[in-house]
Amino acid sequence: MNFAYTETQQLIRKTARKFAEEKLAPSSIERDEKQEFPHEAVKELGTLGFMGMMVPEKWGGSGLDTTSYVLAVEEISRVDASCGVIMSVNNSLVCYGINEYGTDDQKKRYLCDLAAGKKLGAFALSEPEAGSDASNQRTVAVRDGDCYVLNGTKNWTTNGSTADIVLVMAATDKSKGAKGISTFIVEKGTPGFSVAKKETKLGIRSSDTVSLSFVDCRIPVANRIGEEGEGFKFAMTTLDGGRIGIAAQALGIAQACLDASISYSKERKAFDQPIATFQAIRFKLADMSTNIEAARMLTLNVCMLKDAGQPFGQEAAMAKLFASKVSVQSALEAIQIHGGYGYVREYLVERYLRDAKITEIYEGTSEIQRIVIARSLLK
Ligand code: CAA
Repeated sequence: MNFAYTETQQLIRKTARKFAEEKLAPSSIERDEKQEFPHEAVKELGTLGFMGMMVPEKWGGSGLDTTSYVLAVEEISRVDASCGVIMSVNNSLVCYGINEYGTDDQKKRYLCDLAAGKKLGAFALSEPEAGSDASNQRTVAVRDGDCYVLNGTKNWTTNGSTADIVLVMAATDKSKGAKGISTFIVEKGTPGFSVAKKETKLGIRSSDTVSLSFVDCRIPVANRIGEEGEGFKFAMTTLDGGRIGIAAQALGIAQACLDASISYSKERKAFDQPIATFQAIRFKLADMSTNIEAARMLTLNVCMLKDAGQPFGQEAAMAKLFASKVSVQSALEAIQIHGGYGYVREYLVERYLRDAKITEIYEGTSEIQRIVIARSLLK
């Protein structure tokens, strides 16, 4: 394995870090408090070419590899994990899904603007009764001439109220279970499509998480991705790639925890010396750093497999499972190192814990990742 970054990858990392520190850091606390979506920052991420990083230039993207994408998501999430997930959903679920499975007409109509960051996308799979059990879709799409009529509710949709374009999974033939699900591209403003409840969340509070409602919403057949019945496989293969983005987001949060803990432990004095001189603190830092590096290796490994065209679902699940665990553990340790200061809003580490927790839940809980890994081992 060769993890030496190319010049392009190093430049992406540097650009992402500079953008995060200069443009995101000053407003991140306030946006978290107010649950405010970073509209301007997302536009600028588009200008930087960070919203469709793996999409070919022909379709408005940056034509980069998965490693570059992971480096950018990590750096953005190191400062603002809300921005990290906004970026991750647009890149690795929406743009990837259309680029990989869409028609040229769909790419022209939707992908070009999504990849260039002129429009924002969302991915609507989860429902009130279909979270981990994703094939249990209650949203239905009934064919009526040149359209499908969509009825149902989606939950936990990241970017949901801001998105211009939503990829919606719905049952076209309930009797066929997972093989009776199809995927549709739904535009904001389509009659019958509305944003329902906005969630008030523990973490990633400046990202946008909502329920979506579809009532007799007519979607042209030309907006179906792939054939009827291919929607579940579409969702599963797209989520395999999405999980790499969430592993990178988790890594970014974990790295932020380590960075904050190193600088705090050098400054903070107890018993007349910096707490960094105490073995109890030094061992925590050593363990955090070792775990983060291991999570990074798993994440870079899956990038290489994906870019080499190898199967990568199991490795993506491993990277997400491990990186999300490391993220939560690192946040807990960072709070412990900061003591009382770690527990208050003024210091960022309490937010890191709130942000880290979601990485063990969305795009497949840790329990689902273990199912995916075990199935792959035992097949
Ligand atoms: N790639 C290709 N095909 C796949 C696949 C994959 N990764 N996973 C499953 N399939 C195929 C299976 O091979 C099977 O097809 P065949 O019958 O032809 O073999 C078909 O799909 C059905 O698969 P299963 O029988 O395994 O389906 P299941 O109902 O047992 O579910 C599961 C499997 C792994 C539990 C799945 O439901 C799952 O991943 N659940 C979690 C869903 C999830 O991650 N949700 C996240 C929501 S999106 C989100 O969070 C976005 C956001 O906004 C941040």
